[in-house]
Amino acid sequence: MSREHTLLGKVFHWGFVLLYAYGIFKQIDDLSQLEDAALLQFEIVFASVFLLLVVIRYGYMRRFDTFQGAVVPVHRYHKRFARLMHVAMYLCLALLPMTGLAIAWLYTQGAGEEALTMDVAIGLHGFSADLSYVLIAIHVIAALYSRIKGEGVWTSMVPVFTESGQSTNQYVVKAAALEHQALEKMEALIASRKN
Ligand code: HEM
Ligand code: HEM
Repeated sequence: MSREHTLLGKVFHWGFVLLYAYGIFKQIDDLSQLEDAALLQFEIVFASVFLLLVVIRYGYMRRFDTFQGAVVPVHRYHKRFARLMHVAMYLCLALLPMTGLAIAWLYTQGAGEEALTMDVAIGLHGFSADLSYVLIAIHVIAALYSRIKGEGVWTSMVPVFTESGQSTNQYVVKAAALEHQALEKMEALIASRKN
């Protein structure tokens, strides 16, 4: 059954997009900036709120089905893959503030850039930031692709450019059929391996 996301689900999604964008744009360029005690304190509060919201949001969204807005049947592998990508996004968005907080803690313990622990924390922080760009880019492209097909998933979360049924464009119909065939083949392959 097709269902829109709840108002709270939408507020979490779009409020979080703003918070994430702010976090990325105001990012620290190097460790020496943390000499500013007020900035260090602000970063710690920001990262803690960010982390708390990621956890609360995940706890709330878990109860809803992935693609709950779909007006067409969705292959179970497709759904599983999308859920995996969502969980990867949550993990990545938790690692980002966690490693930021680790940097802050190590810094207050007197660790400088030369310390191995700081090197690892900064490395992981940079990795989680880069991974978040990749996952979010894939996420937005997947949402747009679904919107083009007119599956209803877009409209369940996005208030603009809403859908009015499945696309009948011949190329889109063909792409959706190919996608379905590929998923069926994958399922058959996995089933034959299991036997
Ligand atoms: C213009 C940009 C974006 C669009 C059009 C978009 C669209 C969507 C849509 C349609 C869904 C619902 C999927 C479903 O019902 O299964 C969704 C869920 C989700 N989005 Fe986005 N999104 C955008 C940006 C972002 C950004 C920047 C983030 C991360 C900061 C993000 C994180 C998530 C997560 C984690 C979910 C899964 C929610 C859940 O079911 O737990 N999105 N998005
Ligand atoms: C949710 C909170 C945070 C976000 C979204 C965020 C985001 C970022 C991003 C995108 C970068 C650039 C990484 C790269 O270029 O690969 C960065 C670097 C950095 N962040 Fe954060 N950060 C957060 C929290 C923190 C906290 C709490 C601290 C420490 C107080 C911190 C300290 C640093 C430092 C020192 C760098 C520079 C690393 C270097 O020298 O390359 N961040 N942050």
